[in-house]
Amino acid sequence: MSTFKAPKGTYDLLPPRSATFLAVREAISTPLRNSGYGYVETPGFEDVKLFSRGVGESTDIVSKEMYTLTTKGGEELGLRPEGTASVLRAALQGNLHKLGNLPVKLWYSGSYYRYERAQAGRYRHFSQVGAEAIGAEDPALDAELIILADQAYRSLGLRNFRILLNSLGDKECRPVYREALQDFLRGLDLDEDTLRRAEINPLRVLDDKRESVQKQLVGVPLLRDYLCDACKAYHEEVRALVSAAGVVFEDDDKLVRGLDYYTRTTFEFVHDGLGSQSAVGGGGRYDGLSEMIGGPALPSVGWALGVDRTVLALEAEGVALDLPTATSVFAVAIGEEARRILFGKVTELRRAGVAADFSFGGKGLKGSMKDANRSGARLAVVAGERDLAEGVVQLKNMETGEQRAVALDDLLDAVRAELA
Ligand code: HAM
Repeated sequence: MSTFKAPKGTYDLLPPRSATFLAVREAISTPLRNSGYGYVETPGFEDVKLFSRGVGESTDIVSKEMYTLTTKGGEELGLRPEGTASVLRAALQGNLHKLGNLPVKLWYSGSYYRYERAQAGRYRHFSQVGAEAIGAEDPALDAELIILADQAYRSLGLRNFRILLNSLGDKECRPVYREALQDFLRGLDLDEDTLRRAEINPLRVLDDKRESVQKQLVGVPLLRDYLCDACKAYHEEVRALVSAAGVVFEDDDKLVRGLDYYTRTTFEFVHDGLGSQSAVGGGGRYDGLSEMIGGPALPSVGWALGVDRTVLALEAEGVALDLPTATSVFAVAIGEEARRILFGKVTELRRAGVAADFSFGGKGLKGSMKDANRSGARLAVVAGERDLAEGVVQLKNMETGEQRAVALDDLLDAVRAELA
């Protein structure tokens, strides 16, 4: 081992498990690419104010968990704790919203950083695949995103996840509710921290997991009863469209999210096999975020699915993905001359698009055949001096054990025929 270890709350993705991460990213992005979402990539760090204004000064994510730094040039930067603010910033900066066709639909995949208390499923460096649909207020867009996330999880074989759905109202009705909620909370027996939270961000108190708090929340005013007519109608339409697609969800009156930019539709995907870190993904509408970061009014909606937790959910359900083995053909050469010739053949196979590998390190036949077995290759090409003198190699089917001589010049065709 080296003197160094991966920092606390982080881990390395190593083969073979790392292949599952790639497959999960692929599975989540496939339905998005198929639905008009274009790929976007933004820097890993941004002006720290983008996040404090966008995600919210009073959120845990900004106030406790953000990695911040001052550069030698005096810039105040934050490692991105989430993707939405950055993607919207990039769309505005690139004037994508002025090109005429709204919504601008974007998807992304990358690393995010939160200085959290590390535990199973909760890391300081984690990975998300996300989608943002910018610049349209249309319940079908909210429904589209929920349906696509459901499709992504199902395509992976996940079954034990649930979709929680709520509406957080808008700038008309939420302030009225907020006041009613604060009045209620002020009458409870809460510790000082929670009382302070009730003043700054009262909705977060609904999310408090402690029994002592939940017990007192019986009869708490619910946003559902305060929604204005426009928000109510909007939410009903989202619900109807999602249901019509055959996607099952649960209404969750107390669902609040850990980021301040949400309005109206909010949702979370939870998996029941993950213990306390059960959210495998989440998102919602953020109609005011663009203005909060200095842009024009651009009502938008999006989600991000956690890749790490999705992999944990697959493992919890015992789902093994059908991953294509990386190597189709493994070449085993015995003797110097055979090495040179077979190495050339491997190059030729690779250039023809066949996944091929070679026994490196000058091992003997036994060691090389072990490598061939370990590689998972369906075919082995074996050659020694005697074969080459006859202008042939041995092509071995690793599943059946059958072996036959093939002329060197016919190897590519023979391999293609066997793999077809
Ligand atoms: P979020 O709920 O903070 O939302 O994160 C989305 C997902 O990222 C979570 O459900 C979880 O699976 C994963 N995740 C978050 N933090 C961690 C962590 N410390 N360790 C492992 N996984 C984690 C957002 O980030 C919003 N930007 C989603 C969004 C997009 N809303 C609108 N558009």
